[in-house]
Amino acid sequence: MKKGVRKIYQEVAPTYELINHVLTLGMDILWRKRAAWIAAKIRAGEKYASPTSRPFRILDVCSGTGEMARDLAVRMDRKKALKAEIYAADGSPSMIHRAKNKEHLRSVRFTLADAGNLPFPDSTFDLITISFSTRNLNPNPQAMLSYLREFFRILKPEGTFLNLETSQPPLPVIKTLYHLYIRLIVKPAGYLISGSRAGYNYLSYTMPRFYDAPEFSALCRKAGFSFIQHSLLFLGAAAIHTARK
Ligand SMILES: C[S@@+](CC[C@H](N)C(=O)[O-])C[C@H]1O[C@@H](n2cnc3c(N)ncnc32)[C@H](O)[C@@H]1O
Repeated sequence: MKKGVRKIYQEVAPTYELINHVLTLGMDILWRKRAAWIAAKIRAGEKYASPTSRPFRILDVCSGTGEMARDLAVRMDRKKALKAEIYAADGSPSMIHRAKNKEHLRSVRFTLADAGNLPFPDSTFDLITISFSTRNLNPNPQAMLSYLREFFRILKPEGTFLNLETSQPPLPVIKTLYHLYIRLIVKPAGYLISGSRAGYNYLSYTMPRFYDAPEFSALCRKAGFSFIQHSLLFLGAAAIHTARK
């Protein structure tokens, strides 16, 4: 993880969740829950068959303060058939520290690790999730590809990669309004609440430059994934991709 990015997350960790909820009017909470619901469907084998005789392992990469890992744990705790071992990895000690104190996360195994060099053998996980972090792994398409290949490496054959990330609305007028919102609201409000100018400059720089949904699908395909699907959230402001090894 780059030093600058680690410093940003150290600065924004205390207010990180609050700002997300304010800036998305709470929609980030619903989007993670939707991603966890898709994960549970995958676990239940409704979409893809998975043998039940071995533990179903999930890794939440760039888990941050653990909101996605918590939603996964809550979902998987609901029914015996959804039982899973959940792991979470992040490169920021400050963010992991916040996650570890949360209810529902006691059974989650945390690792401090860079997403590009995850300390797991090949073919370890049935499912890898990542939420609102892929942008951080994208200084350029080549770097993004190498992270995606790392996720591919540690997924079991037939395992699924699930990506929840901001995207680009397909309708030009909505896209223009969305970019204006990022520039005029996200950047100053993020700074005002967190006190971190660098943090919200970074966010407002990376959001408009990230891929649209078909472009991200193409990158996943290039990294080796197949059966790639996506659904758009809030007119394409965000998207959930699933892709199979
Ligand atoms: C925007 S937060 C998202 C956190 C969480 N997934 C969520 O849904 O709120 C991005 C997280 O990615 C982590 N991160 C960024 N680059 C990373 C890298 N190269 N390796 C590991 N973690 C990284 C940061 O520490 C931060 O916790």
